[in-house]
Amino acid sequence: MGKCAIVFGGSGGLGAGCVRALARDWAHIVITYRGGREKAEALAASLPETCQGWAVPCDVTDRGSVFAVVEEARARGGAIDTVVWAAGLAIEQPQIGEITEEEWRAVFDAEALGFTRVVSAVLPLYRAQQGGNFVAVTSMANTRVIVGDTISAAPKAAIEALCRGIAKEEGRFGIRANSVAPGAMNAGLGELFIAERMTPEFWEKFRKSIPLRRFGLAGDVGEAAAFFASERASYLTGQTLIVDGGYTL
Ligand SMILES: NC(=O)c1ccc[n+]([C@@H]2O[C@H](COP(=O)([O-])OP(=O)(O)OC[C@H]3O[C@@H](n4cnc5c(N)ncnc54)[C@H](OP(=O)(O)O)[C@@H]3O)[C@@H](O)[C@H]2O)c1
Repeated sequence: MGKCAIVFGGSGGLGAGCVRALARDWAHIVITYRGGREKAEALAASLPETCQGWAVPCDVTDRGSVFAVVEEARARGGAIDTVVWAAGLAIEQPQIGEITEEEWRAVFDAEALGFTRVVSAVLPLYRAQQGGNFVAVTSMANTRVIVGDTISAAPKAAIEALCRGIAKEEGRFGIRANSVAPGAMNAGLGELFIAERMTPEFWEKFRKSIPLRRFGLAGDVGEAAAFFASERASYLTGQTLIVDGGYTL
């Protein structure tokens, strides 16, 4: 296969970690952004010489936009063998009783439906070439419930279910689908949360509740995603790898 990857949400904190990890072994990476054009372009420009990166705009709530990115990736990089899903909404953390229908719709449209749009665009290509893989960045919050995080966790549960379904239905075509579930990260949305919401006392208490005594980094998620995407994981499908320093234990 051609070693061409698309990272949806590549302009984000965790998406960028996935791009950097893939760039060691992939020849072409399409990095999608919505508002973060500069970040995506800077990331593309920073990749090693062996990897050509392109920053491409995409709105995952728009089916046409998703299909256009997949077409562009094919035109630039050839056969796509890897799709990483790392797009997600920056949302507040309301408790379940306070979440409006509009908020539920927005998060499911961007995340759960967004991923189904990606799958619809890519699956026929993977079937035709008899192979390819999906890696979805989800959340450990479906293993350890975090108060206020269900609005973020619920669409990830749908995404993980979709990955398991793809694994079972499409495995015969050489197609794999796995998830990486981050814990408390000092990257992307987590970095913002730490900077804006955590007092030093809370930070220290939280840190001590993580067995490995540190918040995760984008590279921790990136390494797990690149592993799932690689031939080293060729017999792994339908799995979720929790990358949380042991927090869910
Ligand atoms: N960081 C954490 O602590 C953490 C922990 C557990 C789970 N997660 C989950 O991991 C995922 C990635 O998180 P992150 O921290 O990397 O977030 P982030 O830095 O805010 O990145 C989110 C990415 O999604 C893109 N995006 C948002 N809406 C989009 C849309 N409608 N169409 C296309 N792209 C869109 C953003 O694009 P632009 O920035 O270009 O607009 C950005 O690339 C999220 O689902 C998050 O809930 C994060």
